Amino acid sequence: MHNYSDYLSYTRKIYDVYMSMSVLNWDMETHMPKNGNRFRSQQLSTLAKIAYEMSTDPKYGDLLDKLSNDSSLDFDQKRNIYLSNKDFLKKKKYSSNFIQKQSQLISKAFSDWRIAKEKNDFCIFQESLEKIVDLRIQETELLGFKDHPYDALLDKYEANLTTIDVDGIFKDVKDNLVPFINRINKSGKNDDSFFYQYFDKSKQWEFGIQLLEQMGYDFDSGRQDISAHPFSSHFSPQDARVTTRIDENNLSEMIWSCIHEGGHALYEQGILVENYALPLGNSISLGIHESQSRLWENHVGRSLPYWKKNFPLLRSFFPNELKEIDYLKFYNASNNVKSSLIRTNADELTYHLHVLIRYEIEKALIEKEIKVKDLPQVWNDLYKKYLNINVPSDAKGVLQDIHWSHGSFGYFPTYTIGSFYAAQFYNKASQEISNIEDKISKGDMNDLLKWLRKNIHVHGKRYDAKDLCKKITGEELNFKYFMNYAKEKYSEIYDLS
Ligand code: CO
Repeated sequence: MHNYSDYLSYTRKIYDVYMSMSVLNWDMETHMPKNGNRFRSQQLSTLAKIAYEMSTDPKYGDLLDKLSNDSSLDFDQKRNIYLSNKDFLKKKKYSSNFIQKQSQLISKAFSDWRIAKEKNDFCIFQESLEKIVDLRIQETELLGFKDHPYDALLDKYEANLTTIDVDGIFKDVKDNLVPFINRINKSGKNDDSFFYQYFDKSKQWEFGIQLLEQMGYDFDSGRQDISAHPFSSHFSPQDARVTTRIDENNLSEMIWSCIHEGGHALYEQGILVENYALPLGNSISLGIHESQSRLWENHVGRSLPYWKKNFPLLRSFFPNELKEIDYLKFYNASNNVKSSLIRTNADELTYHLHVLIRYEIEKALIEKEIKVKDLPQVWNDLYKKYLNINVPSDAKGVLQDIHWSHGSFGYFPTYTIGSFYAAQFYNKASQEISNIEDKISKGDMNDLLKWLRKNIHVHGKRYDAKDLCKKITGEELNFKYFMNYAKEKYSEIYDLS
């Protein structure tokens, strides 16, 4: 192996293994029978081992090293080599011992967490979680960091994002968003009770499919299935799938998870086929990925023009259930702001307080300032502090999220970052696309999708998130765009002058 074409073919082989794992994971969450679990885990761990060995092969390292000094490469080629090499060096820092220990810990933790949640007993999960926290602390030392150990964990999901950045973002949230939410709560009038009637499953499904088609989701390069938790996954730009969840007694569940996951999948479908497997054929970061889902879910899918177009369609599916409702009532209800216990059901404003709470807890755990055994109390205190809500049980409190049982620390902040990127991107898009609201109110999403493709999707990892944001909007991530959006929208809905 000594030249760029060797790099291409070898990198594609590694990626083929990873994408095959994704297919098996997708199947596990959607169609696999219960008894398939045992050998599926084995199959996945075999593939994981193969992928790890291939991607840390010293010969691959030599090749990347040589190509790193090859001045004949063009900008994109250099970028691919730079990122592949960075990834190689990072993977090399882990011993196979660490990887093995991690996978054992996680499978035990995941099963303990499931039982703990079912039985509403944090103690069942405590020991596993302690071990995971220790492992993550160990990992921060192994990866290295400049200012704060938590930086090493953030960087896994959002390259170059630091604790200082996230502290700054949440300071803005506390200073501006929290008082605004308090004003909304005081005005407290918004009725979304009609969402919680019986809505036939197959009609909901059909409506969701039409929303995806309207967004420009390509069903020849994707499909939708049902899963317990909605997610999107991709095996190539020509096979980017979504799942949704349908609750017959809550209409909102399906609608916005459909739009959200559709937004993720549109990003993957917009990646250039010729860059398959390469860094330039991969999404930038979790934060940018989430910006795409949130942009569609909130800025489009919870907007007035969107429901002007789509409410009549929805009502054609449910004429009796929505007899008393018009598109304005529907729009207001879809933007009901209310403190709640469960992050995944939160509105787009209080959502960030849920993330803030998890961020404060994770940081304190990594700093060893709090102990795992005290988490239920810490959790409940923070819910009281930020959301003014009493947590009735651990199942609905500290045990609600899957992330920690998967060993994911440093992940939550990308949700908030993603929403704030979404606001900043959408602001720019609406300046550059003429009559965007008018187009949305006619169900024409073409220009918006084209804008996202051109500015974000086709680049893959050509730029870092921070640089991309500057390139598109002229500045780094700035909370004010989200706050302005929130103020404008909710002052009208809640009649705040
Ligand atoms: Co998402």
